[in-house]
Amino acid sequence: MNFKTIEVKDKKLILLDQTVLPGKTVYNSYEDFRDVITAIKRLEVRGAPAIGIAAAYALALAVEIRADYDLNGLKKIMVDVAREIKDARPTAVNLAWAIDRCLAKSYQYEGESVDEYRTIFWNEADAIHAEDIEMCDAMGRFGAELIPDGSTVLTHCNAGALATGGIGTALAVFYKAAEMGKNIKVFADETRPLLQGARLTCWELMQAGIDVTLLTDNMAGYAMAQGKIDAVITGADRITQNGDVANKIGTYAVAVLAEKHNIPFYVAAPESTFDKELETGDDIIIEEREPDEVTNGFGIPTAPAGVKVFSPAFDITPHNLVTAYITDSGIRPGGRTK
Ligand code: MRU
Repeated sequence: MNFKTIEVKDKKLILLDQTVLPGKTVYNSYEDFRDVITAIKRLEVRGAPAIGIAAAYALALAVEIRADYDLNGLKKIMVDVAREIKDARPTAVNLAWAIDRCLAKSYQYEGESVDEYRTIFWNEADAIHAEDIEMCDAMGRFGAELIPDGSTVLTHCNAGALATGGIGTALAVFYKAAEMGKNIKVFADETRPLLQGARLTCWELMQAGIDVTLLTDNMAGYAMAQGKIDAVITGADRITQNGDVANKIGTYAVAVLAEKHNIPFYVAAPESTFDKELETGDDIIIEEREPDEVTNGFGIPTAPAGVKVFSPAFDITPHNLVTAYITDSGIRPGGRTK
């Protein structure tokens, strides 16, 4: 990749601003955790694994900002800071997972050094980042074995290098398949309303030299009916105990279409996206976004001012529409039987 989604330099968090891609490549530098929360909310950094990593670094920034605090003072405020960061976006489990993991590590500290305490947060954020890179590679390798040479695969939203610390989840499969010498073509859903498919997936696949064709979300059914699609691979924001999948709005419709056309529907996700607590998709909180993302997206009015809008950012694909899960520890069967 010739870009870095998330990077740390001199205890500053550097994020590639995904709100202005593909027109501009802008890197913003953060020292204050509250600014990182804002960056997560406005989707400057987005995608479940990437927001988990950014959240972990936000916690590390927070522990630095209070130079005047003693150890006990710091320990107390970190609990509140953690809660504040967790509230940034509710649906992707990776965010809460990363924060809980960093906090749990800090609770194990029995020493008395403020510096050592601070280092725990940086080290844990670095570990989460490094592990994500490994998990992306592993998902890519397992997934690439599943996809026959010459296939055309549909994907929705962006589950690539821009959404993770590594080479992505769904898109990792395409990168690894290309490395293996397979000729895979990708169809990328535009992904209304914020166009992560058009702006981000097409941008990163084209830079990597992967054959990608853009279509709007409402064209996927026709493309399938025309026999243009051999498989679907999406990412996930949260997978519950029964295998239900929260992912970008529109994923459910694609899964229904895939079943109707007898096309396998795969979900690629690392262990950090599997929720250890929630039983079913009904338990997942679905983020709702501001109406103007639909009516005035990218500054162009596309609906009458004041119209009522329903804008969930994610939907739930029931486990019985999933053919298999591509995880970093291998392929797990889904609940779809045909
Ligand atoms: O609102 P976004 O852009 O954060 O939504 C992202 C998705 O839905 C991705 O498919 C998901 O997070 C998986 S990213 C590897």
